[in-house]
Amino acid sequence: MDSSKKKITDYVDQQSSLDLLKFITCGSVDDGKSTLIGRLLYEAQLIFEDQIAVLKNDSKRYGTQAGEIDFALLVDGLSAEREQGITIDVAYRFFSTERRKFIVADTPGHEQYTRNMVTGASTADAAVILIDARTGVSTQTRRHSFICSLLGIKNIVLAVNKMDLVNYDREIFSKIINDFGAYQSYLDFQSVSSIPLSALLGDNVVQRSPKTPWYSGPTLIGCLESLEKNEGSKESFCMPVQWVNRPNSEFRGYSGKVISGAIDRGASVKCLPSGEEAKIDSILLHKKSFHKAKKNQSLTVTLDRQIDCSRGSVLVDIDNPTELADSFEAQLVWMDEDQGHQGRSYLLKSSITTVGASISDIKFEYNVNTMEHLSSKDLAMNAIASVTLNIDRPIPFQSYEQNPHLGSFVLIDRYTNSTAAAGMIKFALRRAKNIYPQDLNVTRVAREAQNGHRARVLWFTGLSGSGKSSIANVVEQKLHKRGNRTYILDGDNLRHGLNKDLGFVQSDRVENIRRVAEVAKLMHDAGLIVLVSFISPFRAERDRARALFDTGQFIEIYVDTPIEIAEKRDTKGLYAKARRGEIPNFTGIDSPYEKPQSPEIKLNAGKDTLEACANTVVEHLDREK
Ligand code: ADX
Repeated sequence: MDSSKKKITDYVDQQSSLDLLKFITCGSVDDGKSTLIGRLLYEAQLIFEDQIAVLKNDSKRYGTQAGEIDFALLVDGLSAEREQGITIDVAYRFFSTERRKFIVADTPGHEQYTRNMVTGASTADAAVILIDARTGVSTQTRRHSFICSLLGIKNIVLAVNKMDLVNYDREIFSKIINDFGAYQSYLDFQSVSSIPLSALLGDNVVQRSPKTPWYSGPTLIGCLESLEKNEGSKESFCMPVQWVNRPNSEFRGYSGKVISGAIDRGASVKCLPSGEEAKIDSILLHKKSFHKAKKNQSLTVTLDRQIDCSRGSVLVDIDNPTELADSFEAQLVWMDEDQGHQGRSYLLKSSITTVGASISDIKFEYNVNTMEHLSSKDLAMNAIASVTLNIDRPIPFQSYEQNPHLGSFVLIDRYTNSTAAAGMIKFALRRAKNIYPQDLNVTRVAREAQNGHRARVLWFTGLSGSGKSSIANVVEQKLHKRGNRTYILDGDNLRHGLNKDLGFVQSDRVENIRRVAEVAKLMHDAGLIVLVSFISPFRAERDRARALFDTGQFIEIYVDTPIEIAEKRDTKGLYAKARRGEIPNFTGIDSPYEKPQSPEIKLNAGKDTLEACANTVVEHLDREK
């Protein structure tokens, strides 16, 4: 073996025997984060500079030699997250010392990049939280520490940076440690190490600094090398079934990817949701048979008997605590510019599936500085809150504490497709388990037959003063005259009764529309033609209302009157008041109206007469019988 090849083999041997520490860095560019990472990489890699050069050359010549395999393994560990669509804009960097290998998730630091912090943190063993010695413990420091704690990161290294700019003052360092200590009592960390350093000058990063004789602890790299990793509890086996492989009547294999734990051939498994049990007969990968199925492998298993298990089912080990539930209490970290609202529906994406989910209750939002619980109905960027989620169908889950893979999720905005929040499941709520729909014998269809017409929902939406209520009123008179059973649900009227506890902030409007949609659903079920006249300014809630009905039952009518005309009419004098600043959050002025994209009917109520608009609606009803 030539000497360079021996060198690389030694390097790889040594490297593969080292264990790996994954850590994240939290802090902003101003705190000196990039400089710190740059210095760590530079100084750590210097040690192996010649070997790395050889490694680079050799991997070209020898293809997938040992060195490459090692690297792929490291990258693979992270790709699971990437597939979940959680990993966004996070750069992973790899470096090593003689004692340990490291992966650092380099997460951008500005407040609005909390998103990246959350996603980078999901597999981290430790977090290095940067603090600028001149500013001390900030709101951002607290927020990041709190998120680290929520994510279950047990080891924290406080890197008190820019000590050179405060004359390596021991008092300043001590004050920062004390301030953090007071806050830390709220959080769940195993170890917190504090290091005074200067990333720029290299003090206490890799080399001990003579400028801090009063500090006897380790350097940053020394600290990272000796941190004890908490291995966590043993993960239980979980494999969502992606497809049932049935090439002939003899063979039935269940294919999918093991997302947590491992299982041996012969072990018993349970299928969710059916709950049926069987033993693993064989584990197949690339036509070869194996004794064990391990995490992150995509494979096929066969079972010793036929059970109810199909695409979308999940195979888990027999005493696995995985449960099914459709209602959860969870922690949310809001990550979107668009606020989150109590009552609004999102898509929940877990490691297993994607389902519709609504935030049914924001129990409280945290004040991250004091840890006080604040009442809140909207979640702004960076908010951390405890919420109740109701989802459209039961999903398999474990609490985040039991299993981060099965207990974490992201909420996705249905319209923009952006990641709105990262979430961690605390526990399931049993609500749905004890409530069963009651079968009723007189059905909507029977009522429709008695009425002699179909039940319908005519949903009028448009600005205040657009003419919704006036048109609905004429339509109802026409329908009533010919013997149809009708009822009008009008925004102004319901706000005097059922909805009198609601105002006009976004979350109240979301709830306003949720309630009227449910009432419309009941009235529709009673066989009526229901005319709903609400501004209903948000697309999300109108679509949510539509989703309660079958195709053709819900007719969206956009009363398209330009704001100039509505304002000129100003029948209730509200626009004038709003312009004078006396009515905040007035639709069209300082609160948005999202136009319907494809309403069944669009009325040009600024130009056409009331009578003409009403006729258009009645004619549509008659046509679509
Ligand atoms: S919605 O936006 O939540 O759908 P809704 O239709 O119930 O509104 O009520 C709208 C009516 O409330 C308007 O027609 C108007 O008379 C009155 N109103 C009072 N304040 C406001 C406001 N800030 N924005 C819009 N309408 C308001």
